[in-house]
Amino acid sequence: MDDFRQHAHRLADWIADYLEHSENYPVLSRVAPGAIRDALPAAAPEHGEPFDAIWNDFERIVLPGITHWNHPGFFAYFAITGSAPGVLAEFLSAALNVQAMLWRTSPAATELEDVTLAWLRRLLHLPDDFEGVIYDTASISTLHALAAAREAALPDVRGEGLAGRGDVPRVRVYCSEHAHSSVDKAVMLLGLGHSALRRIPADDEFRMDPEQLARAITDDRSRGRLPLAVVATVGTTSSTSVDPVKAIADICSRENVWLHVDAAYAGVAAMVPGWEWILDGAAAADSLVVNPHKWLFTPFDCSVLYCRRMDTVREAFSLTPEYLRTSEGESGVRNLMDTGIQLGRRFRALKLWMVLRHFGADGLRAHLAEHMRLARLFAAWVASSDQFELAAPVPFSVVCFRLRRDTTDEAHQRVLDAVNGSGEVFLSHTKLDGRYAFRLAIGHIRTAEQHIRRAFELLNRAADNSSI
Ligand SMILES: Cc1ncc(COP(=O)(O)O)c(C=O)c1O
Repeated sequence: MDDFRQHAHRLADWIADYLEHSENYPVLSRVAPGAIRDALPAAAPEHGEPFDAIWNDFERIVLPGITHWNHPGFFAYFAITGSAPGVLAEFLSAALNVQAMLWRTSPAATELEDVTLAWLRRLLHLPDDFEGVIYDTASISTLHALAAAREAALPDVRGEGLAGRGDVPRVRVYCSEHAHSSVDKAVMLLGLGHSALRRIPADDEFRMDPEQLARAITDDRSRGRLPLAVVATVGTTSSTSVDPVKAIADICSRENVWLHVDAAYAGVAAMVPGWEWILDGAAAADSLVVNPHKWLFTPFDCSVLYCRRMDTVREAFSLTPEYLRTSEGESGVRNLMDTGIQLGRRFRALKLWMVLRHFGADGLRAHLAEHMRLARLFAAWVASSDQFELAAPVPFSVVCFRLRRDTTDEAHQRVLDAVNGSGEVFLSHTKLDGRYAFRLAIGHIRTAEQHIRRAFELLNRAADNSSI
């Protein structure tokens, strides 16, 4: 590249400004569908172009089509942060271009992953016999956990598969009615069939009812079905409810069923004094997923699977062709390709390591606690307002609420569109017990009281206008 050093400096300046002032952009992109595609040529350039020309098009064409997740007014889905140390680590990781498939292909990538995941495990008060591995997303972590559960429960599924086998009973996987759709996708992909997933009803605070789980397992066994795994969620996607992991773990241990805990969003809160209870019972789980890219200030993507039976994951996935054999492979080093479907894998541990070191445990706890304080404050405004009411308890940093007087989806949608049209904030929605609910999710490191106050003002104004 022509003068890489100069462009790198310019980009670093731009990134530093962006990370401090991303609110100068409208949080939600306003481009029309197809606008970005139409503004770009149909074919790649025949001849290389100068970086200035590429950069101009990035600013002119690409940037307007960005929805700014790294913006303090981003309150949709689960709000996240690509923090400065994590961004720098990504810069480095791209330059190093490491593929951490074997210990040999970068010992530091493997060993830094071991060390960093041991640090995180301690912060979350998880036992030392949980071995950790980093994947891209929680969907993939859960897929690997359920693949291991399948490996453990079904004889020679690796060799013989499932199709056409009379010796394999139909199986069941259980999760609450509020569990994430990644569980459905894993069950489908593992060849168990979507009908193998049994969703257990939740109580009026959206937590799985363990008695109904126990009954479902007994019922399935009496019909010749084999219970394979239970997925308990700590921080469900819609309302962030916490399933009673301890009671579920007791059932799983009695029934000899694999327990996977999906703590993708909320698991990190266990490091905050007073919130340790959310992972009560998780020590007895077989596997647990937590996503530093959700609420631990680590740029997307970074998901951690902890597993007490990582050898079962290896039994499911390990396969070493001749061209990947190494002498140290015989002497017990860990080759990360053995614990997953991917061969090549990014050096994601670097960003998590830099994030943990930069903030320190007390810095991380302080940010998480502040997000939860802001959520409680917003919830208090909602609870005492004439316009809105709470739609769910607020255990963490997400507030679900709805209009008091007008219950139609259309009225809610109008309010949401007006608020999001402001460009200052971006909220999303869900349905709870069939009723529309706004979701305000706090997770950006620069979100402060002024941002949630502004969101509440915009919501009130939109609600006033919609009732005229
Ligand atoms: C509870 C829960 N589990 C899993 C996922 C999937 O996460 P990912 O995008 O990392 O696959 C989500 C996403 O929001 C989630 O809320």
